[in-house]
Amino acid sequence: MDILFKTSVFLHVVAAVLLVGGTFFFRIVLHKYAERTGGLTDELKATLQKRWIHTSWNLVLVLLVTGVFQMFQRLEAWRDTAGHMIFGIKFLLFLGVVAVLAMVTASKGEKAVRRPKLMLINIGLGVAIIGLSTWLARVAM
Ligand code: HEM
Repeated sequence: MDILFKTSVFLHVVAAVLLVGGTFFFRIVLHKYAERTGGLTDELKATLQKRWIHTSWNLVLVLLVTGVFQMFQRLEAWRDTAGHMIFGIKFLLFLGVVAVLAMVTASKGEKAVRRPKLMLINIGLGVAIIGLSTWLARVAM
């Protein structure tokens, strides 16, 4: 494994942790707190949502760029394994994450926090993708 591939996987995993963990924190902690106490001001809510959505899209970009690079590095190693199939399922779920994020983005700022079900879907998809990814990384070993 060369240094470029290792660096790519490192960035990929950091982005994955931040995207799934950030969505989890936003939905499970912040959203609940705001719902129960009304303790966040509208301005703070709007700022958090705007920054979170912006950051999420940047993380999606990092995942896509590093992920495509890693895929090309692994194509040969996946030959005669379940690698291609696992990758295909993972990519479809990733498209689901992007579609959900696009819906949250389209609902803009203040309204985004009213799309809690969508965020739960993305947490679920994220966890499923992480499961597939650990499997995927091991078929090439
Ligand atoms: C929400 C989106 C994503 C998440 C949460 C995610 C998560 C991960 C994680 C945690 C790993 C490391 C697994 C391990 O080493 O045990 C991984 C590996 C990998 N990911 Fe992703 N990923 C995402 C999107 C993508 C995308 C869009 C692509 C490609 C277009 C991709 C391609 C890959 C490849 C090829 C590997 C395997 C690297 C290897 O063989 O060591 N991922 N992913």
